[in-house]
Amino acid sequence: MRHYLSIYLLILFAFSCKEIKKEKTSSANNRGLVTSNAMVVSAREEASKIGVEILKKGGNAFDAMMATEMALAVTYPYAGNLGGGGFLIYRLADGEVGALDYREKAPLAATKDMFLDEDQNVIKGKSTQGALAIGIPGTIAGIFKAQERFGKLDINSILQPVVDLAKNGFTITESQAKRFKKYDSIFKVVNGNKLVFNNELKSGDKIVNFALAQTLERIIAKGRDEFYKGETSKLLLKHLQGIGSIITAEDLAKYEAKWRKPIRFEYDDLVITSMSPPSSGGICLNQIMTMIEDFDLKDYGHNSLKTIQVLVEAEKRAYADRSYYLGDPDFVDIPVKTLTSDVYLQNRIQDFSFKQATAVDSLSHGEIVGYESEETTHYSIVDQFGNAIAVTTTLNGAYGSKVYVEELGFFMNNEMDDFSSKPGEPNYYGLIGAEANSIAPEKRMLSSMTPTIVEKDGELYMTLGTPGGSTIITSVLQTILNVHEFDMSMQQAVNSPRFHNQWLPDEIRMEPNSFDVSLKQQLEEKGYIINEKRTPVIGKVDGILILENGQLEGGADKRGDDTAVGF
Ligand code: DON
Repeated sequence: MRHYLSIYLLILFAFSCKEIKKEKTSSANNRGLVTSNAMVVSAREEASKIGVEILKKGGNAFDAMMATEMALAVTYPYAGNLGGGGFLIYRLADGEVGALDYREKAPLAATKDMFLDEDQNVIKGKSTQGALAIGIPGTIAGIFKAQERFGKLDINSILQPVVDLAKNGFTITESQAKRFKKYDSIFKVVNGNKLVFNNELKSGDKIVNFALAQTLERIIAKGRDEFYKGETSKLLLKHLQGIGSIITAEDLAKYEAKWRKPIRFEYDDLVITSMSPPSSGGICLNQIMTMIEDFDLKDYGHNSLKTIQVLVEAEKRAYADRSYYLGDPDFVDIPVKTLTSDVYLQNRIQDFSFKQATAVDSLSHGEIVGYESEETTHYSIVDQFGNAIAVTTTLNGAYGSKVYVEELGFFMNNEMDDFSSKPGEPNYYGLIGAEANSIAPEKRMLSSMTPTIVEKDGELYMTLGTPGGSTIITSVLQTILNVHEFDMSMQQAVNSPRFHNQWLPDEIRMEPNSFDVSLKQQLEEKGYIINEKRTPVIGKVDGILILENGQLEGGADKRGDDTAVGF
């Protein structure tokens, strides 16, 4: 009997080993680029390569950040920028974490109802296209602030390779050529002339950008203030004022990037650090992950009915809170502690049922008693010293306001649309805002950008983020869960099909042709509305995972031209 028992146990053990082995091999087989020392993952190969070149010169993640960000401005004008802004989350090798906010600001002359007509209705297009859509850019202030504090190299050795790239030219990819075609007529309407980026360009063609090379050369020679107070600022103002912008020399001179305390929370054995207001990313991610923590997602399975229900219901509640409570912390008092507390969040998810969808109009924002005092881009870097950064940077929409400053070689943002032009009225991403995110001079508009760093057992585990407007938060969420709950490699995790819910509109957005018909039917039977058209591509996640043996695995999203480079 004993003999049979041991044979049985042996067979059981062999089977379970086989299962584990199978799982491990399957994620191992699907790994992205694996390297031993350092890595940069970004939306363009040239930008990742320049970042790595800086690291190989002895620079660290913050030096590589400056080079990668500017190389994206050259090769990926869709979202890479000097005319926009962004957020950085960092974790130093000694474990110190921090956040930098270089979000755009509203001009001094901005007013609460600047996008409304005399009947107080939103004027279509005014906050998204052309001169008034532009916020004061923060990118140059941001990359200098980060590099000055933590970087090692001189500005010239960081930016010269980018100047060379702009002068020698970069190759147009297939998707890029398609986008230049798509936006050509809008570029002409907004700028009144044909741009260097136009509908005649084909995949494989080269573009040089001398104006941008010269702008960068002046910035190398004169430093950060060249952009905000020097000749570049004068050329910028001349262009902007010529097209009716309200931005002044004082606006540029007053711009400062700001260090912020990041949002930090636990989920199982992970510690997650993400962006604080004026981004909603960190708070929403914290809220969703705390609400779902007690559900056995691993058991329900990846993208299964139950997993989708739990995530969607937690997302609904977090986005309802977002729209009411969140805005620029320098202007509004945000009850961060309560919004992210276990008691509040457990209470918030208490009425969830697997039987049917919670009606959105029954949800609204949670009550807090006693108030406490298509385009963005993301890149992730881990350097050979053990520092990690996650940076999301944006012009907001594709090519921002479409305003192109020809003399300087870059597009200007349309970030003003991220404000709530009128309470209750949806913005471009369908996000509803309230008073907390209304327009005021010098205020920063609420963002969804979620650059995030994850630790496990006190060690660096993952750095990631994505573009995607309102879908950023839920894309970051699903990628972390794919690795942590569903044992995927970083590359599998970023490539997996995604879905999204943001409370209003009342729908689950899903990537088309990615989810079973029967699964969708089951969701519909429970009262969920499915929309596969609104956002056919949900996020373009770029991340780096630290493997058990200490090597780095890059996840470069297959949805774009994203590329991991390392050594
Ligand atoms: O800050 C935000 O949340 C938006 N301006 C981000 C825009 C974006 O991700 C566009 N990409 N698809």
